[in-house]
Amino acid sequence: MIVLTGIKPSGAPHLGNLVGAIRPALALAAEARRSFFVIADYHALTELPEPEALLKRTREVAAAWLAFGLDPKRALLYRQSDVPEVFELCWILTCLTPKGLLNRAHAYKAAGARAGGDADDAIRMGLYSYPLLMAADILAFDADLVPVGRDQVQHLEIARDLAARFNRHYGPLLKPPSYRLSVGDALPGLDGRKMSKSYENTIPLFAPADELRRLVSRIRTDSTRASDPKDPATALPFLLYRALVPPERAEEMERRLRAGISWGEVKEALALALEATLSGPRERYQKLLAAPEEIDTLLAEGAARARAHARPLLSRVRRAIGATAAR
Ligand code: TRP
Repeated sequence: MIVLTGIKPSGAPHLGNLVGAIRPALALAAEARRSFFVIADYHALTELPEPEALLKRTREVAAAWLAFGLDPKRALLYRQSDVPEVFELCWILTCLTPKGLLNRAHAYKAAGARAGGDADDAIRMGLYSYPLLMAADILAFDADLVPVGRDQVQHLEIARDLAARFNRHYGPLLKPPSYRLSVGDALPGLDGRKMSKSYENTIPLFAPADELRRLVSRIRTDSTRASDPKDPATALPFLLYRALVPPERAEEMERRLRAGISWGEVKEALALALEATLSGPRERYQKLLAAPEEIDTLLAEGAARARAHARPLLSRVRRAIGATAAR
């Protein structure tokens, strides 16, 4: 089985990303025959970030995944823009894609609704074509399985559709990928809404210990007294705690909540669990970022290996479409 994970480098990763994306993807990759981790910097380019920011975030994403245990000798970790075969395949797919298929994409429709009558000026082709580039990311490596959050499911369906279109037209060369929905992507944030950068309610993965404590103290609780029984299903500090500790310890905390425990104690347990989970990765992350040239070297090696996988497939595709003489 070939597993491919795509990560858009768009800012500091948080606890919701760890539980919903990083951990499940690393677990899946550990079982796979081969795993690809693509840092999708050209997807991030659709938002036209500052050039220094794009480079910095790309390195940060690489360091984050390495810090949480990605093994760059087994897995292939690379920067999307270092693999030109992806963009070649993207164009070929573009030529097979009816415009209407992309008109129906949620991200494009949402941006169109926000822009109102100015949509034709406000929406750039990068956003419109985003699903095509993502399909190329996946199809260029023959991926069987792609772990995704709910918001990416439509993109996977588009990738499957495009593989089938190509295969109908030119013969069976592209493998339609399956996807696995990550379960944990509904981790609540400090205020109880889904943890998300846009709500500013996140717990960043690499914040210093005192900052983590400050954030934990801000987590919303109600005014029940220490001895009052508390409902685990709505106890925010507990829901975060549960995502970090083994099931036995979560069950024990659940019993203590039902029996009555102060919010201060629950938060203390959470702060300790956070520090136990994050202190090692934080140290590795800082070490990695202190030597960005080493990250760049790792990424360049990953790209060379990734290209070695994409090139034979692209050669077959080029022959099939008549860009290279068939032997
Ligand atoms: N669009 C994905 C996101 O925003 C990132 C991504 C780019 C991706 N290429 C991919 C995900 C390939 C899976 C496979 O999260």
